[in-house]
Amino acid sequence: MEQQTLISEIGTDTLNGLSASPKYLLSKYFYDDQGSSIFQDIMQMPEYYLTDCEFEIFSTHRKQITNAFKDGVQGFDLIELGSGDGLKTKVLLQFLMESSVSFRYIPIDISHKANVELVNSLKKELPLLNVSAQTGDYFQEVKKLNGHSGLRKVILFLGSNIGNFSEEEIDLFFSQLSGLCHQGDRVLIGFDLKKSPDVIMNAYNDSHGHTEKFNLNHLLRLNKELNANFNPANFEHHTEYNPETGKVKSYLVSKTKQTVSVGDLDTDFHFNPWETIFMELSQKFDYQGIETLAQNHGFKVVENFTDNRNYFVDSLWQKI
Ligand code: AVI
Repeated sequence: MEQQTLISEIGTDTLNGLSASPKYLLSKYFYDDQGSSIFQDIMQMPEYYLTDCEFEIFSTHRKQITNAFKDGVQGFDLIELGSGDGLKTKVLLQFLMESSVSFRYIPIDISHKANVELVNSLKKELPLLNVSAQTGDYFQEVKKLNGHSGLRKVILFLGSNIGNFSEEEIDLFFSQLSGLCHQGDRVLIGFDLKKSPDVIMNAYNDSHGHTEKFNLNHLLRLNKELNANFNPANFEHHTEYNPETGKVKSYLVSKTKQTVSVGDLDTDFHFNPWETIFMELSQKFDYQGIETLAQNHGFKVVENFTDNRNYFVDSLWQKI
């Protein structure tokens, strides 16, 4: 049943995206099992500095971060949106456990498999941790928590996942988040900062070919799940970064005139030579933009935690 809903959603989104001009596909569909595993390869590349930076931030500032979480209350619910493998969060969890603070960890992820793996690893690594994983849509799951414990909510949204949203989606996300928070609740958001364009291009156009593979895997997913007949060899990956707007945009470009059939949609899509499919936005931010986002959505910035190169920031906000 769950599978059927997913297929129809990916089908509708694919139909809309490939019928549009210019064509696009939604980056949320990068993450099937294969895509998630390629993303792990991306995160392990030294060029993809984001993961290392956030790890460094958590290791260096864990005391200040966790103090700000618990400041003025006896206990809190630590809710992570899109927790994945929870690797970076474990640094904070470990520290919170050692400082015997009363809290419950609630990782929320769309992937049941990721949740099961995370809970199993936490059972081994932090057996005394009070953890209650939820599978599903972020906001639906947070809504269910409202009123349950009456405790402060501390909501984590890490890894610059926010950067994959359009401006409208970012506004909607923070409006919904703000609507779910009570006065004094905290949110910690990971933002990738603007920096040397060369550094950014190396991360998103890597010489190992992982990012290209990540993008082409989207087409392979459509072949598997929607009975399409994309030939990945007929597309090449192209990335550009605009330092003025802070936007990294990723494309697949058709090398030739071709027609691709998507069986489950009963539709043929025609590509002209060098026609593009827009695949992903990875927005880069600056401090002023982060401040404005917080203010516009009823939060105040309590503190910005950054790494020693000032590449990435975990911004701690409080609901006012
Ligand atoms: C998940 N997200 C924050 C990644 C990013 O940096 O935009 C996805 C990614 N795309 C290419 N490389 C990594």
